Amino acid sequence: MSDEILQHLQAGEEDAIARLCEFLSIASISTDPEYADHCQAAAEWIAERLNRLEISAELMESDGHPVVVAKTDEAGPNAPRMLFYGHYDVQPPDPVEKWDSPPFSPSIRDGRIYARGACDDKGQLMTFIEAVRAWRQAGKKLPVNITVLIEGDEEQGSHGLEAFIANHRELLSADVAIVSDTAMWCNTPTGEPIPAITYGLRGLLYYDVKLYGPTRDLHSGVYGGMMSNPATELMLVLGQLFDADHHITVPEFYDDVQTPTEAEREMWQALAFDDAKFAASIGVDALHGVAGFDTLQRGWARPSCDVNGLYGGYMGEGAKTVIPTFAGAKVSFRLAADQNPQKIDEAFRGWLDERTPPGCRWEITDHGQATPVIVPIDSPYLTAAKAALAAGFGQPPVLVREGATIPVVALFKQLLNIDTMLIGFGQNDDAIHSPNEKFDLINFRNGCRTHAALLSELAN
Ligand code: BES
Ligand code: MN
Ligand code: MN
Repeated sequence: MSDEILQHLQAGEEDAIARLCEFLSIASISTDPEYADHCQAAAEWIAERLNRLEISAELMESDGHPVVVAKTDEAGPNAPRMLFYGHYDVQPPDPVEKWDSPPFSPSIRDGRIYARGACDDKGQLMTFIEAVRAWRQAGKKLPVNITVLIEGDEEQGSHGLEAFIANHRELLSADVAIVSDTAMWCNTPTGEPIPAITYGLRGLLYYDVKLYGPTRDLHSGVYGGMMSNPATELMLVLGQLFDADHHITVPEFYDDVQTPTEAEREMWQALAFDDAKFAASIGVDALHGVAGFDTLQRGWARPSCDVNGLYGGYMGEGAKTVIPTFAGAKVSFRLAADQNPQKIDEAFRGWLDERTPPGCRWEITDHGQATPVIVPIDSPYLTAAKAALAAGFGQPPVLVREGATIPVVALFKQLLNIDTMLIGFGQNDDAIHSPNEKFDLINFRNGCRTHAALLSELAN
């Protein structure tokens, strides 16, 4: 990476941060229909920014919020093409009263920028765009062809993206995909984060599981014990999801789970993950999960199941003796490498059906599916990504997996047959999806440097 480009990054940093603040002021909450206009505005903002950098961008229709696609051909037909992906949508800021500054009025304190989306993913995706800006200011032609795909539905499962990519295979074809929407490795002995490449993501199944019983709420004294109470029965059924060792009991659930290789296990050992420190960082005095696997394996290479919310019956203050007409739970499965979402979906629905309590019926809403991914760790693209991170952060990256999900990564493999390099700059304490989300400016800066370097590395 030339010194000239670095100088432009440095000289333009204040403006870059001001631009990021502008972007962060747009409340592009994808899941809430009331914010559709804000999603549109965020899409337009990013397209305008790309156009100004002579990456001609357009807003394209999808089943969800607009998708921004932009392309350059300036490196010529023989140069590689990279597909950069990011998402402009953000999670709802709730609970708003827990924020120290308003979620959509970015605030810079102690070298950090606080706002919803600061890290996930607006701040991270802007590192790529600012890197392109610095190349432009240096008057340099980009050494690789780039396609940019920025969507607005990631935080609700990227539901429209499968059809979108399938319908635009030609437009989106590339040699490799690049995504900055993951974290650095933060569980180091010193607590200092180090750069990381994420080579595995878990998949996801997410449901609303509702159980309906009597047609109206009933007096629990007059009626209690005479028929099924949906809240009680839902709890009893969900309780059967785990055995005493915390295995998930859905039949054939574990059939396809890939076992990590010996080499991977050694690589993870070398990361020196500290259970006690990690437990302390989340405010618990013990960790827990399926028997027979250490913490990193449970988070990265084993599936998990969680109740994400429970509702039904009387939820107010005090007591109300009532049998509710329904009860519901938000239930999700994180899928490990090689598990197939469709297969698990069928198995889970069948499992629920077999356990329908007398006089009750299920209503299952699907809130999204994503396939797990493992990226090969011996590709030339990975070598390029490693070199870029080393240049950007001044130290070589480690290879990690991640328990979370980015649905598009499996779609890129399935539909475009390309691998994705996940080079993210977040930290565990960035509080993504939580109140007071933030992004450290040092990571923003080094992220910009990484992307500036990656453009040259990919050209080689
Ligand atoms: N950027 C995150 C995924 C992530 C978080 C990767 C932390 C690495 C470290 C992404 O925006 C996200 O929140 N994904 C959701 C996907 C879901 C809404 C379909 C997830 O994992 O819950
Ligand atoms: Mn994200
Ligand atoms: Mn997210």
